[in-house]
Amino acid sequence: MNDGDGTPAAAARERRFGPLGTALVIIPTYNEAENIKAIVTRVREAVPDAHVLVADDNSPDGTGKLADELAAGDDHVQVMHRKGKEGLGAAYLAGFRWGLEHGYGVLIEMDADGSHQPEELPRLLTALKGADLVLGSRWVPGGRVVNWPKSREFISRGGSMYSRIALDLPLRDITGGYRAFRRETLEGLGLEEVASQGYCFQVDLARRAIKAGYHVVEVPITFVERELGDSKMSRDILVEALWRVTTWGVGERVGKVLGRDRRPGPAAEGQTAAGGDASAKAGDVSAESGDVAAGSGGASTETGDASAKAGGESAKPGEASAGPGDASAASGDASAKASDAKA
Ligand code: GDD
Ligand code: MN
Repeated sequence: MNDGDGTPAAAARERRFGPLGTALVIIPTYNEAENIKAIVTRVREAVPDAHVLVADDNSPDGTGKLADELAAGDDHVQVMHRKGKEGLGAAYLAGFRWGLEHGYGVLIEMDADGSHQPEELPRLLTALKGADLVLGSRWVPGGRVVNWPKSREFISRGGSMYSRIALDLPLRDITGGYRAFRRETLEGLGLEEVASQGYCFQVDLARRAIKAGYHVVEVPITFVERELGDSKMSRDILVEALWRVTTWGVGERVGKVLGRDRRPGPAAEGQTAAGGDASAKAGDVSAESGDVAAGSGGASTETGDASAKAGGESAKPGEASAGPGDASAASGDASAKASDAKA
C-alpha cells in the first residue's frame, strides 16, 4: 500500500517531499442542489483544517445560492460563481488558479454528489506526503465501486485501459476525479495550455504529470454512485475524450519517430511507476543515500528549501482573502474577480 504507513521508508519519503501546506478542496457543481450541503458538511468534518471552494457554473437549480449560504456561516468555505456551464475541466482550471493565487499548498478535486468519500481524504493526504500527485483509484487492489451500473463500469474501465495503452501511462484509474495535487505539481503541468473541457481533463492532467516525471501514486478508494441528482456524463463528453486521447497518443508516437520525445530525462522511468512498491523503493534509496532532490523529477522541494518555506508560510494561505463572500461576490469572470479581490 502506498498511503503512508509510519514506517522508516514512509518517513524517508516525507522528508524528501517536504511538508504539505493548507489544503483547498475544489468541488465543481452543476445542478447539485440536493447534494451540496451534505458534501460540504462532510468535508468540513473529515478534514477540519482544509478549506472548500465550490466552483458553480450558474446552476439553474440554485446550487450557487445554497453554497453562498454555507459560505456565509463558515470562513473555510468559498464560492466561485462562473457565468455558465463550461465543463468540468474549465471549472477546475479556474478553481486551481484561484487556489494557487491564494497560496494553498494542496489542491484537491472532489465531486459534489457523494461519489468521493470525504472520510477517505486523510488517506489521500497521507500518501501525498511522499508524492507529487495522488490519484484516488477504483481500479487498484482495495479500490471498488458501489451501485454503478455494469455499463458505466465498462466505460470507465475501458477508458482507463485505452488511455493507459494509447498514452503509455503506468496508471490504473486515469479518468477518476478524486485527486490531491501539491501546488508545485500543478505549477509544473502547463495548465495554461490545457484545452480539455469535459472529463478527459482528468486524463490530460494525469498524462501531463507522468510525462513531466512527477511521482504519481494511486490510493484505493470506494466510489459510490450518486443517489440524488443526475450525472452530467454525455455523449459529447465521451466523444471529446476519445478524440483527444487518440490525438495525444498519435502525436506522441509521431513525435517519438521524429525524435521529438518531450519526456523529461533521468527521472521519467522509475520515479513515476504507479502502484507504489517500485516507486517507493526508488524514493527510499535516494533519500537514504542523501540524494534528496535528485531523481525526483524536478518536482520535490529540497529539504532545506522546504523547511524555510514552511516557516514563511505560517500565515494561513486562505486568510489572504477577505473571508467568506469574497469570492462569491464575483459574477461573470470569476477568476478575474478572484485576483482583483486579492489585490
Ligand atoms: N462547474 C461544473 N461545470 N461542474 C460540473 C460540470 C460543469 O460543466 N459537469 C459536471 N460537473 C460536476 C458535477 O456537478 C459533479 O460535482 C462532478 O462535476 C462530477 O460530475 P458527475 O456528472 O457526477 O460525474 P460522473 O459521476 O458521471 O463521473 C465521475 O466519473 C468520471 C469518470 O471516471 C466523476 O468522478 C468524473 O470526475 C470522472 O471523470
Ligand atoms: Mn457522479
